[in-house]
Amino acid sequence: MNPWLEIELTDYESHMALSSIAQAQFLSGVFAQAVQIYSPKSVAILGCSGGNGLDAISNSGVERIVCVDINSEYIATAKKRFSGSFNQCEFLCCDILSSSFSFNPVDLIFAGLIFEYVDYNSALANISKVIKPSGHLIVVLQLPSEEIPEISPSKYTSLNKLSRIFNFVPPLSLQEAAKNYGLEIIENKRTTLKSGKSFQEMVFLKTA
Ligand SMILES: C[S@@+](CC[C@H](N)C(=O)[O-])C[C@H]1O[C@@H](n2cnc3c(N)ncnc32)[C@H](O)[C@@H]1O
Repeated sequence: MNPWLEIELTDYESHMALSSIAQAQFLSGVFAQAVQIYSPKSVAILGCSGGNGLDAISNSGVERIVCVDINSEYIATAKKRFSGSFNQCEFLCCDILSSSFSFNPVDLIFAGLIFEYVDYNSALANISKVIKPSGHLIVVLQLPSEEIPEISPSKYTSLNKLSRIFNFVPPLSLQEAAKNYGLEIIENKRTTLKSGKSFQEMVFLKTA
């Protein structure tokens, strides 16, 4: 069983929002900034959990949102929280690797900390089909650290199950793979949070 199906949303959200971890705030900020820069009319969040970041873009001119997550309870909560905040909303419970992963293409896709849990080549093949030409894919990858384990320790120990499927994705490997799907890197930035954890933020342009 995928460990993401065994973790309560409250545990996940509480863990990510801890001031010592602060990854919820970081991801929401990266997403909101991308929406501000690229002014998409339609966006998709892959691995949306409870909809982190959607409150920050509700008045940004985005008309259509597509939220995707493998966990039906996460999706149900995101729907409850945000279905009234945008003109058009789609909440899809599905695996981004599956053949049923499909929706009408969008202007911008946000994939923050999801490639670590999937085969990134197969995911890119699927994702590239749902980005409009000249659209953008925003990716956040976690970078390895010698001091901090991949799953930050906290009192929410249910998250430790994620270590079973977590794999670091080298940013250069993702960049190379993305080229095969018409995704050209246009922004590449490393950020280190107060916790000491570092992340690579990457923006890809859909050229073909
Ligand atoms: C680390 S969280 C992503 C961060 C989240 N966007 C946030 O801002 O908190 C990973 C999310 O991806 C979802 N997920 C993991 N594997 C998935 C898959 N194969 N297909 C769809 N969603 C997946 C998990 O259920 C979880 O909600």
